[in-house]
Amino acid sequence: MKALVWHGKRDVRVDDVPDPTIQEPTDVVVRITTTGLCGSDLHLYEVLGPFLDEGDILGHEPMGIVEEVGSGVTEVKPGDRVVIPFNVSCGTCAMCGTGLHSQCETTQVREQGSGASLFGYTRLYGSVPGGQADYLRVPFGNTLPVKVPEGPPDDRFVFLSDVLPTAWQAVAYADVDRGGSLAVLGLGPIGDMSTRIARHHGVEKVIGIDLVPERLERAAANGVDVIDLRATDDLTAAVRDITDGRGPDAVIDAVGMEAHGSPVAKFAHQLVGLLPDSVAEKMMQKGGVDRLNALYSAIDMVRRGGTISLSGVYGGMADPMPMLTLFDKQVQLRMGQANVHRWVPDILPLLEEGDPFGVEGFATHRLPLEQAPQAYDMFQKKRDGAVKVVFQPGT
Ligand SMILES: NC(=O)c1ccc[n+]([C@@H]2O[C@H](COP(=O)([O-])OP(=O)(O)OC[C@H]3O[C@@H](n4cnc5c(N)ncnc54)[C@H](O)[C@@H]3O)[C@@H](O)[C@H]2O)c1
Ligand SMILES: [Zn+2]
Ligand SMILES: [Zn+2]
Repeated sequence: MKALVWHGKRDVRVDDVPDPTIQEPTDVVVRITTTGLCGSDLHLYEVLGPFLDEGDILGHEPMGIVEEVGSGVTEVKPGDRVVIPFNVSCGTCAMCGTGLHSQCETTQVREQGSGASLFGYTRLYGSVPGGQADYLRVPFGNTLPVKVPEGPPDDRFVFLSDVLPTAWQAVAYADVDRGGSLAVLGLGPIGDMSTRIARHHGVEKVIGIDLVPERLERAAANGVDVIDLRATDDLTAAVRDITDGRGPDAVIDAVGMEAHGSPVAKFAHQLVGLLPDSVAEKMMQKGGVDRLNALYSAIDMVRRGGTISLSGVYGGMADPMPMLTLFDKQVQLRMGQANVHRWVPDILPLLEEGDPFGVEGFATHRLPLEQAPQAYDMFQKKRDGAVKVVFQPGT
């Protein structure tokens, strides 16, 4: 089959690789019809290289048709239409039982000290082959795939794999009352979707912050108050101006470690990229080379007693956190990988009825898998209006 394979920093290619096979009685093999490109894939493309091996297949936002099932699979059958969550979660352990699927005890990567395995996401998360491919092996066939109805196009359901539950969790953790205020840092797919869900939940004032014109325009067209970082000297003051001088009740950081803004950290990032992998891996884990710019602005702008909900992915250890400010302002911090199955029962019925979040117009690019290498480059550089790219293997 064809798959998108990591070869090195900013070097991904579509290669011929062996087809996946059933290895356990509860495995299923899915023929992928649509599969997303995520901001998290950009971390693999750029800074997380030390945790990848040449030949790794990327991708964690797939859906498709069940092709083959193992002898122990009773809940899906060949021909069923399914979405695959990005967490590899068993659905039956104590963590999954409390709705913490991203901490699944069956798939935790204990030798790395990590939570549940993820599709297509580095040694830290189990080196599980990913879903930017013609076919995907999916374990836990009775509990992991999400069955979706025939009828609507793939775009109606594909974002159930990651974007929708991630944004839903970000808004749930932000915990803003109806009528309250929420600022969202970063208007990539996750931030943009968080603004749509917040408005759906009745949050009165939703503020979106980014520096890419078409991302700002997209959010503004959906009724979000947008602030262009490039035109703002004092972001906190600009946000307070429109939140009664107090700051928003909550801030969602949907940026993560690719944040723009700190030249020193950028330099450190480049430096790490030049080091041999074993040294670079240590630097990433212990050295603290993250770009915490977005998180620092969240801490600064949130109102006293407010909540910061982090969905952007961070790594590293040694970045200084302004503990005095966090403590004095009485800020609550909530974060983590999305627990996809935890939110499916809330989201899927809405998608079955209609399209309240505009998912059918959400992707800006639908491309054959063959064009994935160019798409990574385009998405990273935010060229050609690329906000969300989905691939359609087999087209
Ligand atoms: N928690 C989860 O389960 C989960 C799931 C999916 C993605 N993520 C993470 O969420 C983050 C966003 O993902 P995405 O797909 O939307 O990515 P993206 O890279 O498309 O979006 C990030 C946006 O942030 C903007 N930005 C950069 N610096 C900024 C700053 N200082 N202030 C405000 N905006 C800034 C960028 O212009 C960009 O539009 C990534 O870190 C990704 O890894 C987390
Ligand atoms: Zn993703
Ligand atoms: Zn589990």
